[in-house]
Amino acid sequence: MASSTVRLNQAYESAKDVDYSGRAISVCRGRRLLFLIVLVGVIALVVGLLIGRFAIPHDKSSEEKLLRALSQEADADVSETILNAISPRNIEENLKILSQKPHIAGRQGDFDLVKFIRERFQSYGLGVQVTPYDVLLSYPNDEVANSVRLLSSNGDIVYDSVQNESDISHLEGVVPPFNAYSPARKVEGKLAFVNYGRVDDYTWLQSRGINVTGHIVLAKLGRIFRGDIVDIAAANGAIGVVTFPDPADYTGVNNGDRRYAPDALWMPPDGIQRGTIFTGFADPLTPGYPANSKIAHVIARQH
Ligand SMILES: *[C@@H]1O[C@H](CO)[C@@H](O)[C@H](O)[C@H]1NC(C)=O
Ligand SMILES: *[C@@H]1O[C@H](CO)[C@@H](O)[C@H](O)[C@H]1NC(C)=O
Repeated sequence: MASSTVRLNQAYESAKDVDYSGRAISVCRGRRLLFLIVLVGVIALVVGLLIGRFAIPHDKSSEEKLLRALSQEADADVSETILNAISPRNIEENLKILSQKPHIAGRQGDFDLVKFIRERFQSYGLGVQVTPYDVLLSYPNDEVANSVRLLSSNGDIVYDSVQNESDISHLEGVVPPFNAYSPARKVEGKLAFVNYGRVDDYTWLQSRGINVTGHIVLAKLGRIFRGDIVDIAAANGAIGVVTFPDPADYTGVNNGDRRYAPDALWMPPDGIQRGTIFTGFADPLTPGYPANSKIAHVIARQH
């Protein structure tokens, strides 16, 4: 492989969607749901009720009593009521509906689930409000697939990555393989294997005189967040990153189990993991604040 180079083609978006920093981005009205807040609200209410039951101070040792009350077993009636209200059948049915179709954030499948969850909560007698959020999301180019190519020293393509997964690509709404927030670029360079792409892995390589500056690094997924794999690679001078799930980590082959989904939980041999490489928190455009124009106005007025 020493004489081979790898070409990465992150061809996501047409030029108009690529901003000046080269990021393939697409601003979309993310239909986030208030349901999460409602859920947190419900949990907070339940916790509040549980705490409230013991939190009414009476005398000087009330703090002590409160501490003791909080550290004792919860009221058996409460846990029994909650446990009795949970039906494994309902969980199975709900999970089936929630996972039936692709539902990448901000697209139709996602919004369909918002409606489903809203109706479910309403059927339980809860009031639900759906609030739109403006979140910077990242989508792949549906027309030009991303690819990884292995080239010989004279530029011939020795290997071209598969672009479709045989068992799901034909399904409606399946998003082509991509890493969200990865820049749309084509890079070519020599390959360097960096194990799981951890800081320690680079320290190990450096201790053996291996410098990955200017290389495309090949890293195994699964030990650290894929966004950190990319950040650490960049910090070490890499110009591109190829990640892959090692069958030793992601299948049952070590135990002689060669089955995969839908017969087992393992990913099919041509399955490709998707995910984000963004290492920030929440919406990249409004870090630390809700990505909601109303709230942004409130913040602006305060400053
Ligand atoms: C991938 O699947 C799509 C949709 O089924 C199809 O249009 C496309 O030609 C396929 N691409 C490859 C490289 O097989
Ligand atoms: C790796 O190589 C680059 C350029 O060739 C150099 O700038 C950098 O200092 C080297 N890093 C280490 C750790 O030797």
